[in-house]
Amino acid sequence: MSKIATLEIDGKKYEFPIIEGTENELGIDIKTLRGATGGITTLDPGYKNTGSCESAITFLDGEKGILRYRGYSIEELAEKGDFLEVAYLLIFGELPTAAQLEKFDKDIKEESHVEEDMKKILDGFPKSAHPMGVLSSLTSALIAFNPDSVDVESEEEMYDAIVKIMAKFPVLAAWAMRKRKSLPLDYGDSSLGYVENLHKMMFAKPNKAYEANKIVNDALDKLLILHADHEQNCSTSTVRIVGSSHAGLFASLSAGISALWGPLHGGANQAVIEMLEAIKEDGGDTARYIDKAKDKNDPFRLMGFGHRVYKNFDPRAKIIKKSADEVLGDLGIEDPVLDIAKGLSEVALQDEYFVKRKLYPNVDFYSGIIYRALGIPTEMFTVMFALGRLPGWIAQWREMRLRKEPIGRPRQIYTGETHREFKPVSER
Ligand code: SDX
Repeated sequence: MSKIATLEIDGKKYEFPIIEGTENELGIDIKTLRGATGGITTLDPGYKNTGSCESAITFLDGEKGILRYRGYSIEELAEKGDFLEVAYLLIFGELPTAAQLEKFDKDIKEESHVEEDMKKILDGFPKSAHPMGVLSSLTSALIAFNPDSVDVESEEEMYDAIVKIMAKFPVLAAWAMRKRKSLPLDYGDSSLGYVENLHKMMFAKPNKAYEANKIVNDALDKLLILHADHEQNCSTSTVRIVGSSHAGLFASLSAGISALWGPLHGGANQAVIEMLEAIKEDGGDTARYIDKAKDKNDPFRLMGFGHRVYKNFDPRAKIIKKSADEVLGDLGIEDPVLDIAKGLSEVALQDEYFVKRKLYPNVDFYSGIIYRALGIPTEMFTVMFALGRLPGWIAQWREMRLRKEPIGRPRQIYTGETHREFKPVSER
């Protein structure tokens, strides 16, 4: 395979190097395009054909349904790992030794307090505020209480900011949920593991001792691992581009949370359950909803289906679907929407419209069914996605900053008015 791409414009040829990644992905390096051609750029709305960076964190193959974090398969990590060690792997590149994991856990626990004045900001929100909006705001507000986490240039300064946000983010997420339920704000218990402590902060009742449920916490741990990173998706690209201006980590994460909130991205897990509930209310008529999804005149989309990269089964969806059966079985829960989801999936996967467009269930299609079984309110589903994606966002931000990548600033093709003279209002 030639390592050179040749572009011919008006009879003139331009050559660009083709770079090859460790998984044999090929990319045309067009860093010199504008200079060499006197200003010609590419145009690629949604960046469907454009690589924004080289990265060593996550590899996915959409055709084969492969997902690996730092070379480890998602199947093995979900089966054998726990969320905190996977977070360490994503951020620092290697699975931690026992000593490294113990230090990471200890450093996080040291930072797991949240300033009392943050509660005044939380109190300013109406109970009806969506938890993703609250979480994005509180994450940004953390900057005011942790100013030394903004200008982080050295790895040591970055490490301090990383353990701070790994520690405080679950507290803020739990607070966002408890605010809606008018429950006292829990600070958690440093004697518990990371995920168990998150569950306690979310669900502990003020008038009775918290009882951990291993099935629930194991399922939660697995879901967080499955959501931990996914290369240059919309919210991760947002975190990287905000961080590229040298805005701090917390500010970059706050922007990423807002990007994840959208129903075409992380907000889909909430939209899937709302869709399944609507189908159930509508008598379970899945065929009608399949037809609506196929109708170009109908804005309805089959939420939880389709993916920019996966043109095969999302490997995470396979694991979550299996886990949904196990968790609901272990907890003795019968949830009719799980059957509706399975029915919908079976019909869609045989329908020419979906087959031709390679639309398969994605990570969001089944996750809400498990969250629901774990007692998590629907409006908190995307917050759970954010809790899982936190280490991935951090890892990608850290990689971009350590590599001293340039500020992100895409070009455009202008299609507006050409120059015209100003006219006073009396002449318009
Ligand atoms: C996540 O990028 C990531 O990695 C994201 C994520 C992560 O871990 O970070 O994996 C998490 O965001 C998963 C995706 C969650 N979103 C949804 O489930 C929302 C429903 N899905 C779609 O809106 C859509 O599939 C996207 C947004 C996910 C992908 O859209 P693309 O790649 O821009 O594809 P497209 O919109 O151009 O669709 C191609 C065709 C179109 O039809 P035609 O114009 O070719 O006739 O497929 C159709 C679309 O209309 N289509 C759908 C559909 N998804 C695509 N038709 C009906 N239902 C759908 N869900």
